[in-house]
Amino acid sequence: MRHDEQVRLIKQLCAHLDAGTNVDAGGLRRNPTSAYTDLAQAEREWNEWFRTKPQLLGLSGDLAEPGAFLTNDDYGTPILATRDEDGVFRAFVNSCRHRGALVETEARGVKRRFTCPFHAWSYDAAGTLVGLPKPDHFGDVDRECLGLVELPAEERHGLLFVNPDPAGEMDLDWLLGEWFNDEFSPWDFGEAHPLTSVEYDTACNWKLAMDTFGETYHFSTLHSDTLALSFHGAVQCYDEDGHLHRMVLCKRAIDDMRHLPEEDWDITVAGLPIYWIFPNVILMPFEIGIFLVRAVPTPGDPTRHVSTVDFYLRPAAAAKRAPEMELADISEFAANIASNFSSIIRDEDYVMSASQQTAANSGALSDIVFGRNEPALHHYHNTYRELLGFEPLPLLDAVTAEA
Ligand code: FES
Ligand SMILES: [Fe+2]
Repeated sequence: MRHDEQVRLIKQLCAHLDAGTNVDAGGLRRNPTSAYTDLAQAEREWNEWFRTKPQLLGLSGDLAEPGAFLTNDDYGTPILATRDEDGVFRAFVNSCRHRGALVETEARGVKRRFTCPFHAWSYDAAGTLVGLPKPDHFGDVDRECLGLVELPAEERHGLLFVNPDPAGEMDLDWLLGEWFNDEFSPWDFGEAHPLTSVEYDTACNWKLAMDTFGETYHFSTLHSDTLALSFHGAVQCYDEDGHLHRMVLCKRAIDDMRHLPEEDWDITVAGLPIYWIFPNVILMPFEIGIFLVRAVPTPGDPTRHVSTVDFYLRPAAAAKRAPEMELADISEFAANIASNFSSIIRDEDYVMSASQQTAANSGALSDIVFGRNEPALHHYHNTYRELLGFEPLPLLDAVTAEA
C-alpha cells in the first residue's frame, strides 16, 4: 500500500476516534438464513465459484525453490502445484495418467520426480511423464501425450492462483481488479515465508465463517480478553469497488503513532488491513507477517466448512521492527502470535459461527440483521447474490415489523 494511502486511512481512523463515530453502511440489511442452509444455493456456489474460478493456493514462499511442491484437495480437483526447474509456477491434476491414482500424497516438500505409488509411473516438476516401468510389457505409448493434465496457474504479487478446471480461465485482472493489482505490489507478499498452518473443520456454512471477519462490532464482547486489548473495536475504515473491498481495523497503537511525524506512520502499526479476495479469501498483512484465511465449503453440505488459517513471516518487515532479534527468535515470536490468533478464531469466532448455524438449521429464524457498522457483510452478501442472479438485499433506514 502506498504511503499516502496509509496516511489517508490513519487520518480517517483518528477522525472516527476523535468524533466517536464509525464507518456507516448507510442503513441496515436483513439476510435470509437460507443463505447458510440452502443446498441448491450451496451447489451453485460450489460449481460457479469454487470449481471453475481461480483459487488462491498460497504464497510464492510456499514454493520457494525449483522442485518445491504442494498438494491441495480443497476445490474438488486433486491439485499438485510445483515450481519447475526453470522456477516457473505450474499446477496439475494430481492424478496419474495410467489409471488415475493420486501421484503425490504428501502435503508439501521438494522433489525432482513424482512417482505414482501404484505402478511407479513418474513425472517431473513440469508434469512430463519421464518414467514408466517395463515399457516393453506395457505397450507402445507416446509419453508426450501422457503428461499430467495441466491446470491454469498464475503467480502474481507473490500469490499463487490455480483454476481447478483444466478448461477454466485465469482472469486475475477481474479477480484483483485495478485496485488490488496496484495496491498489492508494494507489500512484497512474495518475500513471505510460511510459518504455521492449521485447519478448522467447523459445523457452519463457509459464509458464516467469513461473516466473523466482516465487522469489529463484536471485539468488546466476544474478544474482550483478547483482541479488544490491542484494537479499538468500534472504529474501522472501509472501502469498496465493485466486487473488491478492504477493511482497515484500528489498533490501540494508533494512540501513540498519531503523534509521530506523518512520514513515520505505518498502517500495520496503526491498523490492520483486511483484503477480501472473491469468494473466500481474507488476506491480512500485519507488522511482521501475513495472515491468510480461506473458508472452503464442504461439498453437498451447506452446514459445514473447513477453514485453513496460514501464517507467513515477512522477514524484512520483522527485521525492521526488531533489529536486535535473530531470525530464529523472530520466527518463534511470530509463531506464538500465529498460534494465539488461530486459537481466537477457533475458540471464539467459530464457536459463534456454529451457534448461528444451529439457529439457521432450525428454520425458526427467517433472517438476521446487518448493522450500519458492518458494511463488509452488506457488500459481499450482495456481491454473492448479484452473481447468483438474486435480488440484492435492500438497504433499510430501520428494521421494523414491516421491513
Ligand atoms: S495408476 Fe499410476 S502408475 Fe498406475
Ligand atoms: Fe472475531
